[in-house]
Parts: sequence; structure tokens; C-alpha cells
Amino acid sequence: MTPTIAPARYAVVGNPVAHSLSPRIHAEFARQTGQTLSYEAIELPRDGFELGLRDLQQRGYAGLNVTVPFKQDAFRVCNSTSERARRAEVVNTLLLADNGAIHGDNTDGVGLLRDLTLNLGLELGDRDILVVGAGGAVRGVLGPLLEAGPARLVLANRTPQKAEQLAADFAASGNISSREFAALAGDSFDLIVNGTAAGLSGELPPLPDGLVGGDSFCYDMMYRLDTPTAFVAWARQQGAARACDGLGMLVEQAAAAFTLWRGAEPDGRTVIELLRRS
Ligand code: ATR
Repeated sequence: MTPTIAPARYAVVGNPVAHSLSPRIHAEFARQTGQTLSYEAIELPRDGFELGLRDLQQRGYAGLNVTVPFKQDAFRVCNSTSERARRAEVVNTLLLADNGAIHGDNTDGVGLLRDLTLNLGLELGDRDILVVGAGGAVRGVLGPLLEAGPARLVLANRTPQKAEQLAADFAASGNISSREFAALAGDSFDLIVNGTAAGLSGELPPLPDGLVGGDSFCYDMMYRLDTPTAFVAWARQQGAARACDGLGMLVEQAAAAFTLWRGAEPDGRTVIELLRRS
């Protein structure tokens, strides 16, 4: 009789995490690439990330996706990190080796870039980009956005000092500056990315009217399947050429994590279409 080998185990850890789409996304990637693995959503106590991680490690998990509020905690527990995770100081993907070593990566930035450029066909070089927010989510995507070579990247945040600090941290990577919300009046941008958590409570960052031109593209890093996010609704009402939520970013960051774990490259676009239809 052939011995049964248990499939490699993966999970997304967060709090809350019950409604995460990651298990569906990774199940679809596994099906696409003909791989056998298990993938669950696991809620860890808000003050219990490291303990929870050690427990999952002992139970033989091979990799984890990390979501809110643990991405910065995850960065701190790694024995090694990718260059892009070090720049972001935020980790969303962990590779757990048999010898107990933990490697951290950040695939959020590449996920956003892949969605914007490959799936949505946007050209970012020489464009004017506004990024709203200055938390962990934004820190994770600034490096790849600046690498795309925009003419300028302006950061605006409710707490202006955080945007100022972030702009200073990434100053060597491109033309990045910070501005208070009110001081944005009179300016306009080719691409506006919402990286705030305001939408979680149905709120909007206080962006002045006029930032969105007829050719502007607006992108919300948050997503909703049932209805447009508050930011997408705002962008449409302001006359944006296109406005999209972050479902594609979620799928593409997962695809990059899947490649790190399994060495196979799933097709994100078909999974995005599948989720939109469901
Ligand atoms: P994340 O890891 O999701 O980025 P975070 O680090 O807590 O979470 O950052 C949340 C971001 O959303 C911050 O930029 C926050 O603004 P502050 O730095 O001023 O706190 C922003 N944010 C949250 N709620 C908001 C709201 N109602 N209006 C505008 N910005 C909001």
C-alpha cells in the first residue's frame, strides 16, 4: 500500500479573518497548477501573533499569508526577509522552513503593480500619482510604485506627519513628497490610489473636489464584492475615467505568494473574473 502523504498546509492569519477570500483564491490556484495543498483562514488573538505563529510552525504549516493587524509583527519575527519586505518593513507572506527558520516577503506592492499594469493596462511612467494614506498598507506599495517611474508621487494622510515621514523614508527611491489634504486643492492626478482604512467604516478621506480629471484612474486598495467601495463611488461621482477596487491586487499578491511557496505561476486574471462573477 502506498503511504498517504499529508498535503502541505498553508493559511492566512489575521483578526478578523473569517471573511477572507484567500482560501478560495489559493484553492483555485492549486487547481489551476495541479498541486495538492490545504489552505485555511485562522484567526489569532490580537495580542497573540507570535505565540500563534510558533504553534502553527510546530504543527507543520509550510507558509502563511499575514493580514491586518499582524503585518508589522510578522516583519519582526523573521530570520530573513526579501529586499522588498525590508524596504516596506511590512511582511504579508511567510515561508516556514522545516528547521524552524522564518523567511518573510512582501507581495502587496508587486500585487498592486501587476493589477494596475497587466490586468488594467495602466502606464505609470511619467504619470502624476496621488497616494492617500500613510499606514502599513501604503508603506508596502511605495517601493514598487516609485520603481515604475512616475513623474511625481504625492502622499496625503489624515495625520500629515506620518505622510511626511514616509515621504522622507522613500526620498531616495524617486520624486515623492507629502501634502495636507486641503493643500491638494487645484491640483489633479492621473492616478489616485486610496490606501486608507477609511472605507472599513464607510468613510472617505477628505479629498477636495477637482483632483480627478476626465482621464484619471482611481484605485481603491480595499475591495467589496457586493457593492462599490465608498472611494470607488466617490471617484465615479467625481468623473473618473475608470475606478476600480482592490480585488485584483488581493489576487495578484496571493499569486506572488503562491509562486514563492510552490514555484508555480498561477493565472490571477481568471481568478479575478471568477470571484467577480460569484
Ligand atoms: P494599514 O495597515 O491598513 O495601512 P494602518 O497602519 O492603521 O493600517 O493605517 C491606516 C491608514 O488609514 C492611515 O493612513 C490612517 O490615517 P492616520 O494615519 O491619520 O490614522 C487612514 N485612515 C483610517 N481611517 C481613516 C478615516 N476615517 N479617514 C481618513 N483616513 C483614515
